[in-house]
Amino acid sequence: MGVEIRVEGLRKSFGRQVIWEDVSLTIPAGEISALLGPSGTGKSVFLKNLVGLLRPDRGHIYVGGGDVPRLRESDLYALRRQFGVLFQDGALFGSMNLYDNIAFPLREHTKKGEAEIRRIVLEKMEMVGLSGSERKLPGEISGGMKKRAGLARALVLDPEIILADEPDSGLDPVRTAYLNQLFVDLNTRLGATFLIVTHDIGTARVLPDNLGLLFRRGLVMFGPREMVLSSTHPAVNQFFNARRQGPIGMAEEKDLAEVAAESAPQSMPAPIPPQLMPSDGGLRPAMRRPGEWLREHRVTPPPGSFIDDEGRNWLTDWDALAAQRQRR
Ligand SMILES: Nc1ncnc2c1ncn2[C@@H]1O[C@H](COP(=O)(O)OP(=O)(O)OP(=O)(O)O)[C@@H](O)[C@H]1O
Ligand SMILES: [Mg+2]
Repeated sequence: MGVEIRVEGLRKSFGRQVIWEDVSLTIPAGEISALLGPSGTGKSVFLKNLVGLLRPDRGHIYVGGGDVPRLRESDLYALRRQFGVLFQDGALFGSMNLYDNIAFPLREHTKKGEAEIRRIVLEKMEMVGLSGSERKLPGEISGGMKKRAGLARALVLDPEIILADEPDSGLDPVRTAYLNQLFVDLNTRLGATFLIVTHDIGTARVLPDNLGLLFRRGLVMFGPREMVLSSTHPAVNQFFNARRQGPIGMAEEKDLAEVAAESAPQSMPAPIPPQLMPSDGGLRPAMRRPGEWLREHRVTPPPGSFIDDEGRNWLTDWDALAAQRQRR
């Protein structure tokens, strides 16, 4: 179920500009992970390295046995079949209507007949709420629709790994909520490994199982949601609580004296919200028990954590809640 991605000692530069020095992390199979970081820290470049569109200066990216930067072109082609990628700009072919755009990977990578292709394309279009827009050209639809068409195209090959670069940028809050729910439901159904790049702190706090932060030429932290959201690390705390005070500045790189002054008193992280659940009333296999990581590591959750909209406390009421969901 899903495929793990193990990154070791990754360095990437363009000319004299070093993007990151030494990134290592393991993206667990079948779980939802999210990667955040100020603009320009190399999130999109990271995704492109994972699928072999860009090569790192050094380091390894192990996906299902192969080391991506060292694969031959023919192996890379096979590897990419395992990935569904939604690029930041949607990357739709401007001269093709949505139907043909979404059918493209099936025609390129499989020998399926047109009848089966049609069934798959219409199913994915319905899944992302684009039914009826088959004949529209990318230039005729809104930014949010382009994102959703890109997502439908990323899904047609039933990928083991889904990479999405800011799927929620330019979407209104209601659409963002629907999209996040769609990711949860897809992960429940497909069991695929998800890596989502987002700028939306609200999304980052409720959607993923794991969170990472890129900042200052490196990965500051990557780990379970509860670890990151309870962290008092200055940059992590600032970023995931959307605070102005901290090492991350408007100019991205604040002056070091300023950073030292600001990182002295640590502010309490905001309450950790309950995680988003599948809409069918069931449980998501990859979801860990609320509070488990905190308990194992003897970390006290920030006050008010794990209370949902109905006032239930997921730490104390989890067994009853889970039993109720499983029974449905
Ligand atoms: N092909 C390329 N050639 C040269 N420089 C590049 C290339 N691709 C990206 N860069 C540079 O690498 C840096 C990181 O870019 P990237 O697009 O990964 O940022 P990002 O974290 O995704 O930002 P945003 O949040 O704005 O999307 C930028 O300074 C960018 O100009
Ligand atoms: Mg980007």
